[in-house]
Amino acid sequence: MADLPIVTTIAQLRASLATARKAGKRIGLVPTMGALHAGHLSLVRETQNHAETVVVSIFVNPTQFAPHEDFDRYPRTLEADAAKLTAAGGTDLIFAPSVGEMYPEGFATKLVVGGPALGLETDFRPDFFAGVATVVAKLLLAAAPDAAIFGEKDYQQLLVVRRLAADLGLATNIMGAPIIREPDGLAMSSRNAYLSPGEREIAGRMHLVLKRIVARLHDDLPIAAAEELGKKDLLKAGFASVDYVAVRDAESLEPLASLSRPARILAAAKVGNTRLIDNMAV
Ligand code: PAJ
Repeated sequence: MADLPIVTTIAQLRASLATARKAGKRIGLVPTMGALHAGHLSLVRETQNHAETVVVSIFVNPTQFAPHEDFDRYPRTLEADAAKLTAAGGTDLIFAPSVGEMYPEGFATKLVVGGPALGLETDFRPDFFAGVATVVAKLLLAAAPDAAIFGEKDYQQLLVVRRLAADLGLATNIMGAPIIREPDGLAMSSRNAYLSPGEREIAGRMHLVLKRIVARLHDDLPIAAAEELGKKDLLKAGFASVDYVAVRDAESLEPLASLSRPARILAAAKVGNTRLIDNMAV
């Protein structure tokens, strides 16, 4: 199997994609931070339905990590990632820029998205979505893709990116894709690599807790009571702390008094020192 081409500069990316575009090919972009797993690969497959040229970006974006977070130890496995993408097929080009390429000397711009960025993750990672929005905007401007795909695993992020693209009038179609899970239900995540065997077992229970809350809501338990029970269940399951368990409007992420509109349950909790997030349609 031929190795996938890897470009590291925005100029090279633009030049490669200009050729594809001239040939009439639609461009699809899959933004990632690498340490690729089956969840990422599912995004590549989905993008193939909407584009003839698929670019996967791999960039551990420093601006979305707080100083106390795991930027330094976040897994960087470019060679293995390229091998996985090659073996899976469907990717045409990898964009793997350096920090200096994305944030050259003097870089001073920060994009702040309101709306769905308010609350939930924002309460616990106040600068996170500004970092995500800034880097995603740069990636979308660099690749100018017809479609870009984001996993529902990071549900609030998907809504933030949709808002960003709509507000800036970007031509890219922002698509969401379902959460890919391990056999026990744990949502796949590059950060799962941090878990010890004991923590890994506890982590698998988050999915069950969410499922149980959805069932209780369908049995007419009021939202506030269901959220409280969910928090208690996570602690009982062995999670060290719970940041939130929240039932929200699936489109606006606004709090809901009743299930009168499509809803989503979202949760964030720590197992050991590792913070996990997950969500589910209600
Ligand atoms: P990363 O965590 O690498 O995720 C890249 C993409 O893969 C995101 O759209 C994420 O939602 C999706 N993804 C992760 N786990 C998934 C799973 N189990 N099932 C389906 N999709 C999954 O999210 C980021 O990187 C960054 O914030 C990024 C958008 C690249 C900006 O830096």
